[in-house]
Amino acid sequence: GKVAVLMGGLSSEREVSLMSGRGVLEALRSRGVDAHAFDPAQRDLGELKAEGFARCFIALHGRFGEDGTVQGALELLGIPYTGSGVMASSMAIDKVMTKRVLLSEGLPTPNYVLLRREAYSDADIAAIPDTLGLPLIVKPAREGSSLGLTKVTARAGMAEAIALAAGLDADILCEQFISGDEVTCPVLGTGAEAKALPVIRIVAPDGNYDYQNKYFTDTTQYLVPCGLPEGEEAAIQQLVLQAFRTLNCRGWARADVMIDRLTRKPYLLEINTSPGMTGHSLVPMSARAAGISYEDLCLGVLRSASL
Ligand code: DAL
Ligand code: MG
Repeated sequence: GKVAVLMGGLSSEREVSLMSGRGVLEALRSRGVDAHAFDPAQRDLGELKAEGFARCFIALHGRFGEDGTVQGALELLGIPYTGSGVMASSMAIDKVMTKRVLLSEGLPTPNYVLLRREAYSDADIAAIPDTLGLPLIVKPAREGSSLGLTKVTARAGMAEAIALAAGLDADILCEQFISGDEVTCPVLGTGAEAKALPVIRIVAPDGNYDYQNKYFTDTTQYLVPCGLPEGEEAAIQQLVLQAFRTLNCRGWARADVMIDRLTRKPYLLEINTSPGMTGHSLVPMSARAAGISYEDLCLGVLRSASL
């Protein structure tokens, strides 16, 4: 039957989603799938049913797409969709909720302080570097692609960083900065079938893997094989699989991890339940290293669509 590739949407990652969606659409069509673009920012999701779409490939990122809302609508419409269900999506979009769930299972994630917009004092802000040390990271709890993220290196930078994050989300995450290797690891499959793909190590200019360096520059280095000792890569894959299962993710996802340069301990930053599929994106890169082409990756994810 017809497949809708949901792309675009209403989040601040709209442009990224359009790039992901175009790639997925072209790949599915090249393999004979009757795939059509569908932008929930322009059309009512109810039209999916009226137009007889049998399945949805979700290539939306961020809020109203990766956060359980679209997933809930598709549940109501009875149309199978790729990726995680309502609860896993809504937990994973929220980096603070993700941390709480991971910590409840004893999985490592950097220390943090949550601020709620307009509900904190200057004294609260002043206390954060005492708790987390410097540098530290400030970011909106529910954004992607590093939007609204600041690495704060001095106390004087706190207020501006918090204001930037607060412009994108009412929940502001202040997080301990783990200095070391930045890596990412995709998972494909569901439940007992879920498997981790090769780890990618990211070496961005000045360690700054921001929105620009994620999608638009060619100065970020992606190392796959990652060059970490074999035991370390396997441990990260195991940790990421545990996180995927703990959040009850489905189909596919990609977890971002920092490895402390001194202790070599890995810390989970977050799980992306609708990972980027752009020409610069990491899941396709890792899949390729595992011998899976972009087209086969898209077909595999589509095949896992469910309700
Ligand atoms: N949030 C972007 C799309 C990613 O995680 O790949
Ligand atoms: Mg993310």
